[in-house]
Amino acid sequence: MDTTTQDRQAGKEAAPAGKGGTTSMVDTMVCKYDGIVTADWDGLFAERIDGMKGSAIRELLKVTEMPDVISFAGGLPAPEVFPVREFKEACNFVLEEIGARALQYGPTEGYPPLKDYLVDKMKRYGVPVEPGNILLTNGSQQALDLVGKLFIHQGDLVLTESPTYVGALQAFNAYQPNYVTIPMDENGMRVDMLDNLLARHKVKFIYVLPNFQNPSGVTLSLERRFQLAEVAAEHGIIIVEDDPYGELRFEGENLTSLIVIHKENVLYLGTFSKTLAPGIRLGWVVAPQKVIQKMVLAKQGTDLHTGTFVQMVAYDICQRGILREHVKLIRDVYRERRDVMLRAMAKHFPVGVTWTHPEGGLFLWVTLPEHVDADELLKVAIEEKVAFVPGANFFPEGGGHNTMRLNFSNARPELIDEGIKRLGRALMREFGCEAPGPEACRAE
Ligand SMILES: Cc1ncc(COP(=O)(O)O)c(C=O)c1O
Repeated sequence: MDTTTQDRQAGKEAAPAGKGGTTSMVDTMVCKYDGIVTADWDGLFAERIDGMKGSAIRELLKVTEMPDVISFAGGLPAPEVFPVREFKEACNFVLEEIGARALQYGPTEGYPPLKDYLVDKMKRYGVPVEPGNILLTNGSQQALDLVGKLFIHQGDLVLTESPTYVGALQAFNAYQPNYVTIPMDENGMRVDMLDNLLARHKVKFIYVLPNFQNPSGVTLSLERRFQLAEVAAEHGIIIVEDDPYGELRFEGENLTSLIVIHKENVLYLGTFSKTLAPGIRLGWVVAPQKVIQKMVLAKQGTDLHTGTFVQMVAYDICQRGILREHVKLIRDVYRERRDVMLRAMAKHFPVGVTWTHPEGGLFLWVTLPEHVDADELLKVAIEEKVAFVPGANFFPEGGGHNTMRLNFSNARPELIDEGIKRLGRALMREFGCEAPGPEACRAE
């Protein structure tokens, strides 16, 4: 024990720095309070903490949890269709049939039967993988953190779509990257801009959400998928393909995954959060074996492994065909909610407002006239008892002040209609329209 530590434990004062006392690291790290030496926590945080910002969305969710607010702000699945009974049966089965082993530590890579199930699933997508290509994670959010841990040196450039998933930025920011972004249109990332960008910037990896993107609801067209994989390969750059929503397609054809096009250069993230339940915190990574091996080491330092019990329960649910049936059910439920929202927007929103028409997923994206600030609109919307996420939160390089994300999966159809009506009223107020209906604004 050094003397300073002894002094501290004995309650002695640390000598004031620069006033005759010895100026040590410890002097600058402690402050006195009523004779007790209290650590100066702020001075102790690692530099990387500076880059970590709370998610504005999580903060917003607190406001929107007020019971009379209709919230389109979260990214939550519909709780009323969670397969609670089936989970109960699976839990009982696992405890009765597998017993103590379900409560024991397990391999970091994941529960082998669940990995085998995922191997088959990925093969059905057209990705020929082995169990060694798969790692089970605590949701794909953990996979994003592991990607950061594995690949981002301080100052590395990460290329994202603009807008992009704010949780990925939160995960990556801990590793202090910089961002370069590519705008999106109705066919996803503007891949035509990629070659030029990669020639000018030394990018570490490309982070992309090809299906029903969070936040925009937009899907990357098939043609662009091939272009993206090709351009990235020409520059020797890896792609992180984040795909929580791919199975939630309500209409149209499934489009080839990037990992199918260029298996060796793509790291694919999947999750049970949107297809089954987010509370089980279960996701998976597909990547070349050497990447999985490193990721296993990184995960060991974080949490040793994903919960044994939960993996066994999820496996039981998957292999009994419950997941397959559940996905069919939620596709129908979410399609109806999307349609209700689209119809309500056409009815209640003033002219000058446009929105995306997602073919699946949980979100749609609204663009307001340039002069409208979605942050200001949110204040009015909360007064009208409805909430959304202002779009600027999703732009790593700034912008998007006149955009917003709406979630359509969580609220029941009748509430969606009422919520959009309220949002329409908020828009009228913000636009300065006197009359209650959209026609007044149309006439302007
Ligand atoms: C694009 C995207 N990636 C990852 C996640 C994290 O999901 P999980 O619950 O699997 O951690 C989300 C959650 O909303 C998401 O939208």
